[in-house]
Amino acid sequence: MMKEATLVLIKPDGLKKSLTGNVLTRLSETKLDIVAVKIVRVSRKLAEEHYSHMKDKPFFGELIKYIMGEFHKKKVMAMVYWGEKATAKVREICGSTNPEEADAVSIRGAYGRITTKGVYENVIHASTDKVEAEREIKLWFGPDDIIVDVYPTKIAQVAKTEKRVWA
Ligand code: PPS
Repeated sequence: MMKEATLVLIKPDGLKKSLTGNVLTRLSETKLDIVAVKIVRVSRKLAEEHYSHMKDKPFFGELIKYIMGEFHKKKVMAMVYWGEKATAKVREICGSTNPEEADAVSIRGAYGRITTKGVYENVIHASTDKVEAEREIKLWFGPDDIIVDVYPTKIAQVAKTEKRVWA
């Protein structure tokens, strides 16, 4: 069986509600490996790219504000889980996207809600399938952020770039 990578985001409502530990405990039931993790302040560019397939939805603006943390805390915990059937295993524990339809003991069923404006605050994002997982992981992480080679890499000469270093 082939191993695959999948992206998990604990969204700003999950961080604000101190649910990180609960969510990680639930996800450990999958017995998958965590191969990357970081706390991210989500830029508008990243948010819009992540949800680019949703841009025609009436709730797109709210969705972007939500993931950028404008309603809770300005941070997201991004992780890559790795193993056989990783995407399916993670999504099973997350429950349905709509927290009111999600199984009561799933992460979204237990902790999610729908706002009065009709936007899902569902605590966690999990990639839909392997193809989406690759697109999303490449948005959120570079190859050196992940401890295994989840996708092919190449060496590129990057000239004249500036980066912030410790003073
Ligand atoms: S999924 O889980 O990706 O298959 O679901 P999908 O329907 O393609 O993605 C929808 C994302 O938009 C968020 N969202 C809503 N969806 C539907 N209706 C409403 N009102 C709504 N509000 C927000 C939904 O949570 C999905 O984002 P993620 O991050 O995947 O949960």
